[in-house]
Amino acid sequence: MDSNFWLSRWQENKIGFHQSKYNSRLTSLWPSLQLPQGAEVFVPLCGKSLDMIWLHEQGYNVLGAELSETAVVAFFNENDLQYQVTTSGNLQLFTGTGKAAGIRIFAGDMFAMDEAQTAGVSAVYDRASMVAMPPEMRQQYVDKLAALLPVAATGILISMNYDPSKMKGPPFSVPDELVRELLNPYFTLSVLEHSEGPERLGNLQGRGLDTLEEHVYRITKI
Ligand SMILES: C[S@@+](CC[C@H](N)C(=O)[O-])C[C@H]1O[C@@H](n2cnc3c(N)ncnc32)[C@H](O)[C@@H]1O
Repeated sequence: MDSNFWLSRWQENKIGFHQSKYNSRLTSLWPSLQLPQGAEVFVPLCGKSLDMIWLHEQGYNVLGAELSETAVVAFFNENDLQYQVTTSGNLQLFTGTGKAAGIRIFAGDMFAMDEAQTAGVSAVYDRASMVAMPPEMRQQYVDKLAALLPVAATGILISMNYDPSKMKGPPFSVPDELVRELLNPYFTLSVLEHSEGPERLGNLQGRGLDTLEEHVYRITKI
């Protein structure tokens, strides 16, 4: 699964992963992290997620990373937000202005980012990001996420587990044991919420699964 896969998904507007509402796990669990207002939250593989709007409304700064410039432009335009574009390394940096001040999104390959670009981050939110990576890229993704996050950065990662014989990803099934194996070298983690059942299927309804297990982890970079 290369960049072209995702770029064409955006071009063809095949974005079933996009949620038209705030993620209920984010809104219910994020306050328990008790992060100070003004903390900058890294949102890897952010798409045009409205969760960035929610985080911003709660008083956080947001730093997204998204491959597709179409998605980034859509995020600002669809939410009636103004922005300026500059170049940062190999990526374009969209910086919100006016009421969007405090929201910045790198458009380009997250693997081309470096630590200097995320030095101000103290929190992280991963929804549909780690699980978007095909198995052969998952380790690389976790290594990069860990490299980009300063020590003590903390936040939420949502993972899912399902019978992979019934559905072809993305999103991919990443069972709890595997999440721990991948993250343990870099993060402390605890389960904030665990749920399972057909009602968790959401946009995956109709793709052959009868049920879905979801874990919401608090992760903290060590
Ligand atoms: C499944 S979507 C999830 C988007 C978002 N987290 C959400 O909840 O709506 C995965 C996103 O990752 C982006 N992506 C894939 N590979 C990427 C990379 N190497 N760097 C930055 N973004 C990438 C895709 O364009 C896509 O928008």
